Amino acid sequence: MSSLTPITFAEFNTSDLAEAEGRVVVVVSPDGTLEPAARTANRLTKGAIMRMVEQGAFEKAKPGQVISLAWPAGMKAEALDVLVLARAATTAEARKAGSALAKRAGGKSVLVMAGAMRRADELAMGFALRSYRFDTHKTADVAAADGALTIAHKSADAMAEKAAPLLAVAEGVHMTRDLINEPANVLTTTEFAARAEEMKSLGLEIEVLDEAALEKLGMRTLLSVGQGSDSPSKVVVMQWKGGAKDAAPLALVGKGVVFDTGGISLKPAGGMEDMTMDMGGAGVVTGTMRALALRKAKANVVGLIGLVENMPSGNATRPGDVVTSMKGDTVEVINTDAEGRLVLCDVMWYAQERFKPAGMIDLATLTGAIIIGLGHENAGVFSNDDALCNAFLKSAAAEGEGAWRMPLGKAYDDQLKSRIADMKNVGGRPAGSITAAQFLQRFVQDGTPWIHLDIAGVASVKTETDFAPKGATGWGVIALNRLVADKFEAE
Ligand code: BES
Ligand code: MN
Ligand code: ZN
Repeated sequence: MSSLTPITFAEFNTSDLAEAEGRVVVVVSPDGTLEPAARTANRLTKGAIMRMVEQGAFEKAKPGQVISLAWPAGMKAEALDVLVLARAATTAEARKAGSALAKRAGGKSVLVMAGAMRRADELAMGFALRSYRFDTHKTADVAAADGALTIAHKSADAMAEKAAPLLAVAEGVHMTRDLINEPANVLTTTEFAARAEEMKSLGLEIEVLDEAALEKLGMRTLLSVGQGSDSPSKVVVMQWKGGAKDAAPLALVGKGVVFDTGGISLKPAGGMEDMTMDMGGAGVVTGTMRALALRKAKANVVGLIGLVENMPSGNATRPGDVVTSMKGDTVEVINTDAEGRLVLCDVMWYAQERFKPAGMIDLATLTGAIIIGLGHENAGVFSNDDALCNAFLKSAAAEGEGAWRMPLGKAYDDQLKSRIADMKNVGGRPAGSITAAQFLQRFVQDGTPWIHLDIAGVASVKTETDFAPKGATGWGVIALNRLVADKFEAE
């Protein structure tokens, strides 16, 4: 598994700048003012930075942008990165700056002469997020160790303290990305559960329910998805009890289809390899639980993930089969490729029966239709509760994670009527993401504020983003962490 780049805060001192090795970063304000370390570097390089300023190198530069000088004369550093950032930069600008530096560093160690920069903690966060790499399956000479980040700051200790909870969240994001990037022969249901169980050491309570336990609970729709696979279906329950003893928890529920072939309703071969990310919802739930535990959030949060593999076999569910959910409702399985909702409905029901949560948020790479509607920019947001929904949208917007609310309604729900059972598992081509959400809403109890996040378009992408290389993004961990911090944590 990948681990976080080591990040340390050190006392700010410009006198050893000439001797610093690796990449050295100094800061210039957008108005062209040189911060103290930039002045020192300017002197060492006989005016190189002033020449950049005078010749207008920064005129079109955006906050967070970096201009590099390779092997600067008068210094030992292999590069002098001049970062354009105001001392009072916003959170987003500082985070972007960190990301830009990480991208440029490419694994080399970096010294940032931050001076009195106010959001150096956010710079560290951006660096941590963007320095992620998934190279566990590369045998060639990939950079053996990650270069460290040192941030020299006038209030090093205070800044380190502010950065700690952010870096805890970044570590959660890294875990989510690792889980999503991992191929399905490595990340089996059993391996996923084992990685979740390792988080016991962080103070999380973790239970793994096996097939016998799920059978006893009556989770027949979930089991019907996994029955064609040799990997056993499992539900993992993760509890973080950081809040008041009697406070009802927030429940996070994740779709964890470790591979989705479509089952007997087999998917076409082209692009099927992408279905290794079909456990994305479960990955986000697990990474969020890790983040909350690492930063010791003062809230009660339970994470439940349904782990199955959707495979065709002589024992697989057939189109037309009727299965009974834990709730007791019967489902006609028209298409075995609409499996995520069959997994989620049982786990959601169980979450409500057992925990009586104050709110429930499910996450799933549920439909291809949400990609047609929203592309890779926004997750689809469905909710029965305006207050919870608006709080989440606000958290997501504040953290720069795209989220867009979609409608629900009876006419869509009617598309799920079955001739022979209580409902069917698909509602036809029109509004495929909405009918999927309607299916889930049938398993939301009266009085449970609920959000469904369809993350099929945002969980893993084919182009790099501001904060992640190609592949898994970790979308949702940061927004959910903020929602917990803003709405569920005791003062
Ligand atoms: N896991 C897929 C959805 C998906 C598609 C995720 C593309 C990520 C990228 C889901 O299980 C699925 O197959 N959905 C079907 C539903 C249909 C059969 C009603 C779909 O979207 O085609
Ligand atoms: Mn499917
Ligand atoms: Zn799926």
